[in-house]
Amino acid sequence: MTIALLRLETVEDFRLRAEATLPAPVRDFVAGGSEAETTLAANRAALDRVTIVPRVLTGGSGPDPSATLAGTRSSLPLAVAPMAYQRLLHPEGELAMARAAAAAGVPFVISTLSSVTLDDLSTAGGEQWFQLYWLNDDQGTVELVRRAEDAGCRVLMVTVDVPIMGRRLRDIRNEFTLPSEVRAANVQSGARSSAHARSDGGSALIAHTNAEFHPALTWAHLEMLRSRTSLPIVVKGILDPADARRAAEIGAAGVVISNHGGRQLDGAPASVTMLPAAVDAVPGTCQVLVDSGIRSGTDILRALALGAEGVLIGRPMLWGLAAGGQAGAAGVLSVLDAELRAAMRLSGCTDVATARGLTATMGC
Ligand SMILES: Cc1cc2nc3c(=O)[nH]c(=O)nc-3n(C[C@H](O)[C@H](O)[C@H](O)COP(=O)(O)O)c2cc1C
Repeated sequence: MTIALLRLETVEDFRLRAEATLPAPVRDFVAGGSEAETTLAANRAALDRVTIVPRVLTGGSGPDPSATLAGTRSSLPLAVAPMAYQRLLHPEGELAMARAAAAAGVPFVISTLSSVTLDDLSTAGGEQWFQLYWLNDDQGTVELVRRAEDAGCRVLMVTVDVPIMGRRLRDIRNEFTLPSEVRAANVQSGARSSAHARSDGGSALIAHTNAEFHPALTWAHLEMLRSRTSLPIVVKGILDPADARRAAEIGAAGVVISNHGGRQLDGAPASVTMLPAAVDAVPGTCQVLVDSGIRSGTDILRALALGAEGVLIGRPMLWGLAAGGQAGAAGVLSVLDAELRAAMRLSGCTDVATARGLTATMGC
């Protein structure tokens, strides 16, 4: 880690460092949620209400926080969440992020809207997964999945909570537009040009997403995908336990209980509040991950104690990237690692399995 990053002890430190340097529209694009940002705030409030009951006299060395996520070994029970257009935050964008994830031994999820090509990312090494936004063109979508497979991606994460993009008022007010040098590097030009065109009184990204993504996905699309790829499928963006069960029934290796970091339906519940019911709803063949609002190792332990097998880390990784490129992203992962190990020791856990056996309560 560089000297400039030595004093960054928490994710909040990284956020402050990042936000001091980012242009306001980019800062808002990362931090913002949809509409009144009620769900964005609810994610944090709900996590703060989760208490963990520590166990004592467990002896215990370690702890060992490693996990297997969708068949992939990870040094921590987390993966870097798929996030679009990371070259907005640092010139190396996803490449720096992928290298940081590889060095830390955690999976990196490549967004459909990655601003670095799949081929370039494959040079970073480590475990890479691909996140799919189903495009309006079914043929192009299947072709994109094949390219991700060829590039070495080991898991396909299908995001299902974006029939349209949520009304992100900060982006609308900023008339947010991508700079010309930041593009969706892995999709055809027709599917990305509108993200660069200023849309009067609106966000170019909302216009672009609403024009280019499939607006009416059904379970049949997932079943079709199941027959077209041998990769494990993880379905991201589920909140209702019945949907989690349905995903498991069609063979999903995992689900991510997620409200997209409060960026889609405002008024949706905090992800973590839906976690225990989802865990109860699915068979052991389907892993339950969670994201939205995770900001510390203690939050990761909270999620594990509520039954998750792992979490996705979203905005904190972008703040790390903005604060210091690869070293900044690595810095965030190392903070989370240190915090999680401390929380596991303090609660008497030796590994992820014992962490999942802790008693957690959701206070009011
Ligand atoms: C700037 C930004 C871009 C995102 N882009 C994507 C994306 O391309 N695909 C996707 O499935 N989710 C995307 N997400 C959602 C994240 O994967 C994740 O669900 C969310 O950030 C978790 O909430 P948190 O940031 O509060 O931890 C994005 C989130 C942010 C903040």
